[in-house]
Amino acid sequence: EQQPSNRMIEAHELLKKFYHHLLVNTKEGQEAYDYLLQRGFTEEFIKRFEIGYTINSWDFAVKFLTKRGFNLEEMEKCGLLIKKDDGNEYFDRFRNRIMFPIHDLQGRTIAFSGRILGEGQPKYLNSPETPIFLKSKTIYNFHAAKKAIRKQEQVLLFEGYADVIAAVGAECENSVATMGTSLTVEQAKIIRRNVESVIICYDGDGAGIEATVKAASILQEAGCHVQVAPLPDGYDPDQYIQEFGALKFRQSVIENSLTYTSFKLRYLKRGKDLQNEAERMHYIDSALKEVNTLTKAVEKEHYLRQLSDEFSISLSALKEQELQINKVQKQ
Ligand code: UTP
Ligand code: MN
Ligand code: MN
Ligand code: MN
Ligand code: MN
Repeated sequence: EQQPSNRMIEAHELLKKFYHHLLVNTKEGQEAYDYLLQRGFTEEFIKRFEIGYTINSWDFAVKFLTKRGFNLEEMEKCGLLIKKDDGNEYFDRFRNRIMFPIHDLQGRTIAFSGRILGEGQPKYLNSPETPIFLKSKTIYNFHAAKKAIRKQEQVLLFEGYADVIAAVGAECENSVATMGTSLTVEQAKIIRRNVESVIICYDGDGAGIEATVKAASILQEAGCHVQVAPLPDGYDPDQYIQEFGALKFRQSVIENSLTYTSFKLRYLKRGKDLQNEAERMHYIDSALKEVNTLTKAVEKEHYLRQLSDEFSISLSALKEQELQINKVQKQ
């Protein structure tokens, strides 16, 4: 069992700086740099997030690390290199990719995620789980966002690196990401240690909605208060900001966040034709079941009134039916 070592972190720090240099200052990095600029990444933010580029070579990192006296076996254990099937030789894990450095809570560089230029699979190649990269305890940009999170008493939670970088560009400094994987209990605990209020701002697609429901329940379990930022179908936060701008993102998405219950009531409507009587009844039924899970009387009343207004059904009828749910469940 390999222990985490300072050399592992040092290698990541050195490579991070060199990858950034390659991206910003060299001819080899020009295509990647142009790709980022064309996507709306600014010079300032490429620098701030220490984004880099690694050339299309099987042994660039091998040579770089060898020259600086790193033990290649150790470099394989921390995910930078891969061992060849035959023998003791190593090759680079990351080739011809835009490199996003990943930091731990103290801001040490512990991993990379490499994006392909344009289309292709995998879109992002990530460092594997290593002694210094404990994925379930890592939150992208948390080290940099922590101050703003505490000051604003709120965190914005995204799916992707590009979303966080765009959101920070839109002056939402309290932005972090789960890096595509579903939020873990450990990540939720780290968040709760710093803040109570979380706004989930995942992609506006089916996967994003499902991940929102999962993350919300884990966050609530950890004691967080959850809201959900509404994104139009098919947009992710980065695309939204590029298309509609920072101000509209803050006003129409972040400041317009829904309570978790409103989000669920909205998402229960998806794909339903509420002009159709049967579908409308079915929706009201499932909405009442959702309201029934609330524990606070004031909240229940609030959503029942909303349903009452929306569908012109008396509050008393809605209340009566909501009470029926308990009776059915107790039988
Ligand atoms: P998305 O597919 O939504 O990518 O995955 P994105 O963040 O919008 O990326 P761009 O804008 O196309 O560059 C969300 C997150 O899931 C993880 C990454 O952390 C990504 O930011 N992911 C995605 C991977 O780890 N590997 C993949 O192949 C794809
Ligand atoms: Mn750093
Ligand atoms: Mn997505
Ligand atoms: Mn996305
Ligand atoms: Mn995106």
